[in-house]
Amino acid sequence: MKGKCVRASAPGKLIVLGEHSVVFGKPALALAIDRRFRCEISPGSGILLNGTGLSPRLHPHIDTILRKREVSDLNIITDSNIPSGSGLGSSAALSAALISAVRLMRGEDCGEEAVAREAFETEYEVQGRASPIDTSTSAHGGGVAVNCPEGMGKPIWNISKGENSWTVSDIPVPEMTFVVGYTGIKAATGPLVEKVRKYKESNRFASDIIDEIGDLTLEGMAAVSRDDKEHLGGLMTRDHKLLSILGVSCRELNRLVDASLEYSYGAKLTGSGGGGSMIALTDEPEKVCKAISLRGGEPFIVRTGVPGSAAGFTNS
Ligand code: MEV
Repeated sequence: MKGKCVRASAPGKLIVLGEHSVVFGKPALALAIDRRFRCEISPGSGILLNGTGLSPRLHPHIDTILRKREVSDLNIITDSNIPSGSGLGSSAALSAALISAVRLMRGEDCGEEAVAREAFETEYEVQGRASPIDTSTSAHGGGVAVNCPEGMGKPIWNISKGENSWTVSDIPVPEMTFVVGYTGIKAATGPLVEKVRKYKESNRFASDIIDEIGDLTLEGMAAVSRDDKEHLGGLMTRDHKLLSILGVSCRELNRLVDASLEYSYGAKLTGSGGGGSMIALTDEPEKVCKAISLRGGEPFIVRTGVPGSAAGFTNS
């Protein structure tokens, strides 16, 4: 690959409502957060990742992006403060950042829609099934709603795969404080998405739960647009219970959610679950952080309203 050195970055995300059901075309709401994946790429001979060879097993997203583009000569240096397998969109951020960088280096369209589409295809291939919520949020930044009611957000692109179609919209989100509680347990998204698919296909009850998550997500979007934290929080806690019934929570997540509720409007797991992280919507973030720490979680307060993926040339 010809060209100078390129630096790029993209944010992680938290899903406020709608994970898992969004894979089946239901609505979802996500916010980009102030944790980013950064990479620097430069022409090389062979593929080097942080000074060593690339392992497709350990880095399936990077391998998929480079293989599909037939890139065989690149030095990649990465840096991230989004824990991997934490439910905070580390792989979507990695994909959006690397795709932005490669597109810029090759003189291709590196606008957010092109990045979001390619990052979605990457995520879909690696996970075996995916929705565009993580990758679109990482590419666009701010607040992103999928399949929201007309007039609630500004549609930015439409993505379809198989029988599912997702209209992705930019959605204005009022100032809200979220605390993340990371369980420290890494969980891969693909197997959890597959678990829910099997459950849904074999059990009418699971299908009903997915519909119910879709309905409460729409209600939550309306609550966000009214800045009604009380109602939104209640819906988040209900969503956590429904996700638990679907089998994607775990003891550690439940413990952190329960511990946060005393000082929160509501709390739930975020992302694919099975470990990873939970979020709490609160006006008392310090108290929630303490409660999470006391139950063995790693808490941090997140800032939202951050920009999406970006790339630029450097001289180094
Ligand atoms: C993972 O962050 C969100 C899921 O809904 C999977 C997806 O949407 O691709 C579990």
